[in-house]
Formats: sequence, C-alpha cells, structure tokens
Amino acid sequence: LFTEYFQVPTLIFGNGSIGELGKKVRGFNASKILIITDNGVMKAGIAQKISKILEDDGFSVKIYSDVEPEPPIENFEDCFNVAKSGNFDLFIGVGGGSSIDISKAVSVMMNNQGKVQDYFGVKKITRPGYPKIAIPTTSGTGSEVTKIFVLKDKRQELKIGVVSPYNLPDLAIVDPELTVNLPAKITASTGMDALTHAIEAYTALNSTTTTDLFAEKAIRLISNNLRTAVANGNDIEARTNMARGSLYAGIAFANASCTAVHALSFPLGGKYNIPHGIANALMLPYVMEYNLVGNLVKFADIAKFMGENIQGLSLRQAAQGAVKAVKVLAKDIGIPQKLSEVNIPETAIVQLVDGAYSCTRLLVVNPRKMELDDIKQIYEKAI
Ligand SMILES: [Fe+2]
Repeated sequence: LFTEYFQVPTLIFGNGSIGELGKKVRGFNASKILIITDNGVMKAGIAQKISKILEDDGFSVKIYSDVEPEPPIENFEDCFNVAKSGNFDLFIGVGGGSSIDISKAVSVMMNNQGKVQDYFGVKKITRPGYPKIAIPTTSGTGSEVTKIFVLKDKRQELKIGVVSPYNLPDLAIVDPELTVNLPAKITASTGMDALTHAIEAYTALNSTTTTDLFAEKAIRLISNNLRTAVANGNDIEARTNMARGSLYAGIAFANASCTAVHALSFPLGGKYNIPHGIANALMLPYVMEYNLVGNLVKFADIAKFMGENIQGLSLRQAAQGAVKAVKVLAKDIGIPQKLSEVNIPETAIVQLVDGAYSCTRLLVVNPRKMELDDIKQIYEKAI
C-alpha cells in the first residue's frame, strides 16, 4: 500500500509572521496583487494592514472584500470577473475558509477553461493556477494547507467541493495574532470545525502514520485551548495553540480526508445556511456514536487525547468517552446541541439524507459503512 503526502511548499507560523509577507511576495514575480477577503476582516483592519505592508514594498494592490459566508458560485464569479478584468497575477486569500477558498477557486480558474462547476469533484483540474497565498484569520478551516475549496450551488441547495493538488496555496502564513479580535461565537464555531477535521482525519480509512501524528496533536491542542480562546480572546497562548491546532488538523485532513461528519453537515449549510463550524459541531457526536464500532481503538485514543480518564474501562466504554468529551466541550463553549435549536424541521430529513448520501468522496473513507437508512437515523437522533 502506497501513501501520498501533500503539503504547501512554504509554511510560516508564528506571532508577527505576517511581517515576512513583503519579502516572500518578492519571490513570486508578481506585478498586480488582489487581496481577497470579507467584511469582517476589513472591519478588523487586517486586510488594510496587509495591503499596506505590500504597498510599502512597492507592489500594486487592490482589495476585493465582498466574500460572503458559505460562498455561492455567484460570489466566486463576481470575484473572478474582478480578477480577470484587473489583470491580477497574484492572489492572497485573507480570512476564514470562505475567503481562502474563493482565492483558490479564482487562482485555478485563471488557467482552466469553462465553468467552475465543470471541476466539481476530485482531480478534474488539469492545469496549475496562478500563484496564491493563504493567510487565515480564524483557527478552524485549515484551508491554508488543504487542496480543496467548497462552493455553494444554490440551485441544488448543496455545498460542493473541488479537490485538486493545484488548489494547494504556494505559501501559507499562519500568524495567531491575526485571530485575537475574532468574536467568541466565531472562535467557538470555527474551533469546532478544526476539532471535527482532526477527529475525522484520525479515524478516516485513509489515515496514515503521518496524518495520525498531526491529528493527535491537533485534538490535544484544540481540546486544551478552545475553552480559553472563547472565554478570553486576548489570551495569546490559547490563540497560538488554537492556530497551531487548526493548522495541524488541516494538514491531517488534507491527506487523510474528512469523513461522514462533513458529508452530513454540508446539506445543513447548503439549504439552511447553518455556519460550517456549527453544522459540524451539531453532527459530530452523533456520527461519532455511529462510527465507534468501526474503530474502537482510535475512538478510545481520542477520549484519552481529550483528557478523559479511561483507566479501568473496557475499550468500548473508553471509546464512548470520546463522544462525551466532544459533547461537553461543545456545551461549554455555547454551541447548540440539537438541530431543532437551529430551526431544522423534522420534515427536512428526507432532503438532508439525499444531500449527505451524494458526498460519496467522504462516505467511502468513513470508518463504518453508511447507507441511506443509517444517515436518516443519525439525523433523527441529531434533531
Ligand atoms: Fe470543515
């Protein structure tokens, strides 16, 4: 059995590391730079700060700040038109997963013909894109180190991923100081997304010794620091550990894949606009409960990584400890516990099941085989 490992060519991590940007950009031979970001990042002044660093270095920079949460295809098209008409040749995604994903999409579509929809799925992109840099301002998505971007297809009411090695950013700069002003609610939901990535990567059928290293460390860092980061956003140690945790979770799932939690959460974002991190947090314990028997050893490990005392317990009891630990963490940081709390009606289940079942790419690596009826039962429990 062979394993393949993908990583961004250059990854810079550390407080204040954003100061390295100008020096690094000089290596790209770019003449016009487009910063792709959203409203929140503009309000925090982060995009302007990055733009200034580059302008002081003599670069021509424009900011596109209209990225929407859970961005639809139309939002990508709007940004893509700006990119083409302005003849930009370097893209910098600054923000959460949405901004970084749009910058990945724009970068590859500059060099690939047709519509972005033609590339939905795995390894359909045929040519490398324009250079792109990812600078996260949340500790959640891991998009700075992954080879996927996700867009919402409003017609199908689904979120669909484009997976290709060409989506990997050429450079990722993870500066935890950029996350300090993130509101508690977003810290909580994005942190649960990162935890989901780590747990899914650790238990995916595609996991390897290498991805396990990153997933384990990520689970430990996130479960030890998320409460503090939510309770006191100025705690730079907690912010730094969360940034590292979400980065490691990203590296792990970029190579091991996510599993059924993301499959079942995508339809919640596609039709009901539930933020990605909340959708994952809502589905995570219920999917874990179902998945336990697929790999008791690894779920027992997760309980241990999350600080559960598993001494003297049977393997099965220890594995159940992981589900408990996840529920308690989510509750402590104010995440909704049931789908009904975010206004998902029971009548929604039929369509949700169809949406989740279409995410074959994620379901085939789930540690336990999942059929339509299994998915239905999981949603019923989650409601
Ligand atoms: Fe995610």
